[in-house]
Amino acid sequence: MLFTVIILSLSAIIGESFANNIVPKNYDVQFSTDIESGSESYDGTVTICFDVEKEVGQLVLQTRNLTIKDVTLSKDEINFATKTSELPNGNLLLEFEDQLSEGNYHLKITFSGTASDSDVMFKGSYRREDDSVGHYLMSKPRKSDCHEEASAFPHFDEEYKATFKISVVHHGTLKAWSNMPLQAPPESHDSNGNVLSTFQETPRMHVFDVGFFVSDFETEQIDKLTVVARKGVLRHTQYSASVCNDLVKIMNNHTAIDYDGDVPDYVLIVVPRKLSHSNLTEFERKFVEEDSMMYDREKDDFVRFTQFLKSAGNNVMLQWFSNLIAPEEERLLQAFSNVYTYFNAEKIYPKEYMMMLYQVDVLQESLARDYERPSSVLNMFWLIVLDNKWGAVMKNLSKNRKPRTLTTAQLCSEAQNLWKEDYNLPDGTTLEAIFNQWMHSDAEPPVLNVQRLYSEGKVTLSQNGSEKILPYNFATQSSHFEQLGPFQWLTGRNETVRFDVSDDQWIIFNKEEFGFYRVNYDDRNWKLITQALLSNVSSIHPVSRMQLLDDALNFVENDLLDVSILLELLTYLRNEKSYDVWLVANNVLKTYYHYEIVPPKLVKDFLLHLVEPYYQSFASQSISQRTPQMELHLHSELAEFACWLGQKECLQQARAQFQQAVETNITVEPNWSIVTYCYGLQNANDKELEWLLNSQKSQLCRSVSFLSCVDNEIHLRRVLVELQSKTNQECIADFMAALDEIGFDMLHSLLRNDSELVNVLGSSTVANALEQVSKCTKSANTLELIDELKNSLDLHLDGKSSGKHRKNIWTEPKATEFIERYLKEVEKQSVV
Ligand SMILES: *[C@@H]1O[C@H](CO)[C@@H](O)[C@H](O)[C@H]1NC(C)=O
Ligand SMILES: *[C@@H]1O[C@H](CO)[C@@H](O)[C@H](O)[C@H]1NC(C)=O
Ligand SMILES: *[C@@H]1O[C@H](CO)[C@@H](O)[C@H](O)[C@H]1NC(C)=O
Ligand SMILES: *[C@@H]1O[C@H](CO)[C@@H](O)[C@H](O)[C@H]1NC(C)=O
Ligand SMILES: *[C@@H]1O[C@H](CO)[C@@H](O)[C@H](O)[C@H]1NC(C)=O
Ligand SMILES: *[C@@H]1O[C@H](CO)[C@@H](O)[C@H](O)[C@H]1NC(C)=O
Ligand SMILES: *[C@@H]1O[C@H](CO)[C@@H](O)[C@H](O)[C@H]1NC(C)=O
Ligand SMILES: *[C@@H]1O[C@H](CO)[C@@H](O)[C@H](O)[C@H]1NC(C)=O
Ligand SMILES: *[C@@H]1O[C@H](CO)[C@@H](O)[C@H](O)[C@H]1NC(C)=O
Ligand SMILES: *[C@@H]1O[C@H](CO)[C@@H](O)[C@H](O)[C@H]1NC(C)=O
Repeated sequence: MLFTVIILSLSAIIGESFANNIVPKNYDVQFSTDIESGSESYDGTVTICFDVEKEVGQLVLQTRNLTIKDVTLSKDEINFATKTSELPNGNLLLEFEDQLSEGNYHLKITFSGTASDSDVMFKGSYRREDDSVGHYLMSKPRKSDCHEEASAFPHFDEEYKATFKISVVHHGTLKAWSNMPLQAPPESHDSNGNVLSTFQETPRMHVFDVGFFVSDFETEQIDKLTVVARKGVLRHTQYSASVCNDLVKIMNNHTAIDYDGDVPDYVLIVVPRKLSHSNLTEFERKFVEEDSMMYDREKDDFVRFTQFLKSAGNNVMLQWFSNLIAPEEERLLQAFSNVYTYFNAEKIYPKEYMMMLYQVDVLQESLARDYERPSSVLNMFWLIVLDNKWGAVMKNLSKNRKPRTLTTAQLCSEAQNLWKEDYNLPDGTTLEAIFNQWMHSDAEPPVLNVQRLYSEGKVTLSQNGSEKILPYNFATQSSHFEQLGPFQWLTGRNETVRFDVSDDQWIIFNKEEFGFYRVNYDDRNWKLITQALLSNVSSIHPVSRMQLLDDALNFVENDLLDVSILLELLTYLRNEKSYDVWLVANNVLKTYYHYEIVPPKLVKDFLLHLVEPYYQSFASQSISQRTPQMELHLHSELAEFACWLGQKECLQQARAQFQQAVETNITVEPNWSIVTYCYGLQNANDKELEWLLNSQKSQLCRSVSFLSCVDNEIHLRRVLVELQSKTNQECIADFMAALDEIGFDMLHSLLRNDSELVNVLGSSTVANALEQVSKCTKSANTLELIDELKNSLDLHLDGKSSGKHRKNIWTEPKATEFIERYLKEVEKQSVV
C-alpha cells in the first residue's frame, strides 16, 4: 500500500494536537559510539512501537540537533511512504497522504548526533594517571518546562511514558552503563574491536528519565552498590561508598522490604564535572561529582561531610525510594529520600545529632527558600504520626509490595488506620487531604501569628496569606515540652482560643519546630520569652530556641518584628551552651557583615560581647576524641568569628599556632586549619607564606578560604601567581570571591598598577573571576571597584551581576539605640 504525499500548510501542523492520538509503547534504541578515539559524533537507530488511537495524517518527532538519515513506517509488516521535513523549531514532520488508521505501528529512524557541553549528550575528557587523555560520553537529559531541549534520539512528545530498551556499541576496552543492568555480557560487534552492550528493558518511564554512559572507568561492588569511577579516583571513594552501602542496609532493615519482583541494584557513577542537584531525572540520580565522593574522614571537615551526604547519600536514597514509590509521586519520592538520608546517617554516626543538622540544613533552609520543601512537609506529618509508630507504618507499607507502586493514598490510609483516635482531625477532613494540601502547595510556607488578648485570657491565631489546615501544639511555662502532642488544627484563616495562661507567662507554639511554618508573637510575648531565657535557658527546648532565633531574624528582615525585640532576645546567648543552638545563632550573628564587610565598632563590640562566654568555654579546652564533629565544626566557625571580631587571645593563638606549624613543619589539625591559617597570615613573613603554599600544594583550590586572608599586596600577588600556575580559572574566581572588602581593595590596586600581573593571569581569567565576584558580593564598594576595573582594563563582563543584597538590620536607628543603651548598662554593672 503506497500513498503519495501532500504538503500541508504550517499553520495546520501547529494547530493540530496530534499527541493525544499517538501513544508510544516501547522504544528500542541502539547507539553507536566512537568515544574511545575522542570523537563527539554518534550514530543510532530507534524503533518506536506506538498505537494510533484516533486517525492522524501526520506525526511530529522531537529531533532537535539530530541529523535524520532514514525513516521507515510500517504496520503489519507493510511499509508506508512518508515525506519528511524539518520544522522551524528543528523537529521532524512526517506526512502521509491518507490518515493513519487506528492500530499498532513501528517507526524506525536512523540518525546521527554530536555531543557537546550544552546539549543532552556530553563528551567529557580527563587526564589518566599516566597523563594520557581519556574521554567519556554521557547522556544527560533534563526535565524541562519548555519544549526546546535538544534530543539524544528521535522520540514523541515527552508527556507519554514508555518502556525503553537501550543498547550501545562501543570499543571493547570501555564499558557502558544505563538505567537498567546489562542483559548479558557485552558481545563482539565488529572486527574493529567494538562490542555491543545491551541493557534490560526499563519499566515505563519518561524519555527524559533514560540515558547511558560510556567510559574506561573502573568499578567496585559492595553488596548491591556499584561505584564507577576513573582509575586513581576509585580508591579514594571507598569510605563514601561504604557509607552509601550502609544507608541502603539500614533502609532495608527498617522496612524489611521484600519485593514481589526484581529491582535493579544501586549505581553511583563518579564524574569529574559539576552536576545539578535539583529535580534529578531517574538517570541523573546515578551520578555524583568526584569532589563530593572523595570524602576523607581523616582530612576533611564536617562541611565536606554534609556535602557528600547531600549529593551521593541523597542520590542513593533516591534510587532506593524510586524502587518503592510510584514514579508519578515525585514530591513524595524527594521527601522520603531526603528525610531518610539524615535519619539513617544518624544511625551510622550515633554520636552526631544528624536530625539536629536536618533542622538547620533542611527545615530552616526550606522556610527561607525553595529548597527540599517536600522533605519538611513529610517530616511534619512523620512527627504528628508519633515518631515511634512510623517504623510500623513503613514495615506494613513494604510488605508484599510490587516495585514502584507506593502512593500517598496508601501511606495516609495506613497511618490513619493505625492511630485514628490520636489524630483528632477536623470534622470532614482526611489525613490524605491535609497531607496533599501541604505537599502540593507551591506557596511560601505560612506564618502563624499569635496575638494574645492578655486581659481576656485568650489567644488569636491567624495564618497570613494561607488557608491551610495547620497542625499546631504549644508549650507554656507550666506545661512544658516533654511530648509533641496533642495536636490541634487551625482550619481557617484565624480563630480565637481560650488559654489558661497567666499574663506574666510565655506561650510557645510549634513545639520543637515540628511544623513547616514560622511563628510570630505579639511584642509582649516575645519579651516574656526573652526574660525566661535570660533567667533559665533550659526552660525552653533547644529546638524551640533554634526556631525563635531563626524566625525572629526573618521577621525583622521582613519588617514584621521590631529589631530591638530581636537584639534583646540575642542577649540571652551569653547563657547559651548548646552547640546545636549555636549553629543557628552563628548564622544570625553573621548576618550582613561577616566576613566581607568590617562592622562599625558598636556592632563589633556587641557581637563580641555575645559570643565571648561561649568562645571562652571551648577555646581553652583541648579537643576530645569524643566531641561530635558537628560540635568541632561549630567551634571552629565561632573561633573564626571571634578572631574576625578582633578577639585578642584568638588572634594571638592563631598566630602562635601558625608559627609553630611552620617551625615544626607539621600542618595544623584540619578542624582548626581555617582559623589558624587565616589569622596566622596576618603579619606573616614571606617564608611563612611559602611554607603554607607548599604544604597545601596538593589541594590549593580548597585552601582559598584562608589564602584569601593575606594582608598585603605582595602576598596577594604571590598567591595569585601560584594559583595561576597550579590550578584553573574556577579556583582563581573562588579565591577572588573569598576576599573581603579590604582584600578586594588591594586586588583592585594591584590589577590597576601591575599590568604584568594581568598578563600573567590572562584577562579572560580576570574577567571571569570578576563576574563571579559580582554574583556573590554583599559589598557596594566591591561592585564599584569591579565597574572601575571593567572600564580601566577594558574587560568584557557580560555576565556581571549586581551582588547579593541583604537588608542591614544593624544600622536601623532602633538597633543603634538599643545596643548603645545595652552596652552602657553592661559597663555600669561591671564597674559596680
Ligand atoms: C543544538 O541546537 C541548539 C538550538 O536548538 C543550538 O543552540 C546548539 O548549538 C545545537 N548544538 C549542536 C551541537 O548542534
Ligand atoms: C534492624 O532493625 C532492628 C529493629 O527493627 C534492630 O534491632 C536491628 O539492630 C537492626 N539490624 C541492623 C543490622 O541494623
Ligand atoms: C522542579 O520540579 C518541580 C515540580 O516537578 C517544578 O515545579 C519546578 O519548576 C522544577 N524546578 C526546576 C528548576 O526545574
Ligand atoms: C499492619 O500489619 C499488621 C500485622 O500484619 C496488621 O495487623 C495491621 O492491620 C496492619 N495495618 C494495616 C493498616 O494494614
Ligand atoms: C502578611 O504578609 C504580607 C506579605 O507577605 C505582609 O506584607 C504583611 O505584613 C503580613 N502581615 C502579618 C500580620 O504578618
Ligand atoms: C479573621 O478572619 C475573618 C474572615 O475570615 C476576617 O474578617 C477577620 O478580619 C480576621 N481577623 C483577624 C484578626 O485577622
Ligand atoms: C530551668 O528549667 C529547667 C526546665 O524547666 C528546670 O529543670 C531547671 O530546674 C531550671 N533551673 C533553674 C535554676 O531554675
Ligand atoms: C577533628 O578532631 C577530632 C577529634 O580529635 C578527630 O577525630 C577528627 O578526625 C578531626 N577532624 C578532622 C577532619 O581531622
Ligand atoms: C616539610 O614537610 C614536607 C612534607 O611533609 C617536606 O616535603 C618538606 O621537605 C619539609 N620541609 C622541611 C624544611 O623539612
Ligand atoms: C595604585 O593604584 C591606586 C588606585 O587603585 C592608586 O591610588 C595608586 O596611586 C597607584 N599606585 C601606583 C604606584 O600607581
